[in-house]
Amino acid sequence: MPLIGVVGCQWGDEGKGKIIDVLANDMDLVARYQGGHNAGHTVVVKGEQSILHLIPSGILHENCRCLIGNGVVVSPAALREEIQFFEARGIKVRERLAISENAHLLLPYHAMLDQAQERLRGAGKIGTTGRGIGAAYGDKVMRQGIHVGDLRVKDLFAAKVRNALAYYKPIFAQILDTAPPDEDDLIEEVWREADILRPLITDGVALINDALDRNERVLAEGAQGLHLDIDFGTYPYVTSSNPSAGGICTGLGVGPTRITKIIGVVKAYSTRVGEGPFPTELIGTTGERLREAGNEYGATTGRPRRCGWFDAVAVRRAIQVSAIKEIVITKLDVLTGFDPLFYCDRYRLNGETTETFSFGADLVSRAKPQLEELPGWAEPLAEFKSRGELPANTRAYLDRIEKSLKASIIGVSTGAGREHMLLARPVLP
Ligand code: GDP
Ligand code: IMO
Ligand code: MG
Repeated sequence: MPLIGVVGCQWGDEGKGKIIDVLANDMDLVARYQGGHNAGHTVVVKGEQSILHLIPSGILHENCRCLIGNGVVVSPAALREEIQFFEARGIKVRERLAISENAHLLLPYHAMLDQAQERLRGAGKIGTTGRGIGAAYGDKVMRQGIHVGDLRVKDLFAAKVRNALAYYKPIFAQILDTAPPDEDDLIEEVWREADILRPLITDGVALINDALDRNERVLAEGAQGLHLDIDFGTYPYVTSSNPSAGGICTGLGVGPTRITKIIGVVKAYSTRVGEGPFPTELIGTTGERLREAGNEYGATTGRPRRCGWFDAVAVRRAIQVSAIKEIVITKLDVLTGFDPLFYCDRYRLNGETTETFSFGADLVSRAKPQLEELPGWAEPLAEFKSRGELPANTRAYLDRIEKSLKASIIGVSTGAGREHMLLARPVLP
């Protein structure tokens, strides 16, 4: 012990990568528990930016080991590319990275299916990353998925691919109007891509539980955010896994009593990429200003992120679902120069005022944010060293967040770099 979970509380891109990198300095193991290479976690060290998609955000600390848990869907091609990218920059990845044998594979036909399904959805598209995430998790749930561990024995792996393609070939041809992949080529291609990761395949459940038994410090890394959660998000405009804290248990094979605490990562305003309801969205010049000030472009797809005011109703749901008592506020510096600021603590919905976020896209799309005006500040924040020294209006903004979320702010991030981090109290118990 301890096992600390770090989860996103909004629509993803809260700055989890940065916070995990800062916390990983004190960790022995960082383990990703869900999602796939739809994630883009940015870490900036001495001005140099790294974007992590599948490799956990602890990899830049040389004493930290990393695990890709069974709840992740793993594209051998994407992981191979990422490993080689970081190794070319002198980071010893393979010495410190393990992959759970019972994680599911995301193969090229999953991306083809995802993209074809999006085309068929037309105006009702979800705005996925096109990486094949929903199709890979779909195969897992339909019990025709292929495990990472199946990459150990070629004839078994080949038989499973043939089996999956037997199901998909008519779907490709007759429904999706797309040529299905050639199965022999696909088997050879994936087998080759997997050469580099084969030695990393391990019993992830034993690895993490043994580490906890040895009293090592373990961080569970979430991808995406609560409102993209398959169960709690704005369904169907969600991803296909559980970014909420429950995903830690199923995505790593650790029991709930092992979890010491969950830290929520909360951006000082709201963003969303892809389709789906977004109550506090700012359409027009203020939203564009926020996008430019925060450089809000997707770390995975480069798409412009939709931007809006802080939505406490949305974050409160994340706090409830994941039993979060401690939060870190990110990108507070981006709000410098926005005066006044607006803050949403309740919605009007169906003729009533509510402080509760609804489930599913239909109700959320009808919610009208009730905005409070708050005074802004003009000072850049990057040089401040403690919360207490921040400008009075900045402190008042943080106090407002703490009061409406009923969670303690244990850290404030005021820039993309490791050094721009005000920690109010130690994270480890
Ligand atoms: P993640 O997916 O939650 O890890 O977040 P992303 O990496 O997709 O997006 C967060 C973006 O904001 C990245 O470009 C980070 O480098 C950047 N960032 C993180 N924290 C801060 C901060 O406190 N201030 C500023 N200005 N940028 C930040
Ligand atoms: P990180 O970990 C923001 C969004 C997509 C789309 C929806 C479904 O960097 O916070 P998918 O490809 O998962 O089937 O797409 O989810 N999405 C993200 N948005 N940050 C992410 O990850 C995301 N991963 C998926 O834009 O709306
Ligand atoms: Mg991201």
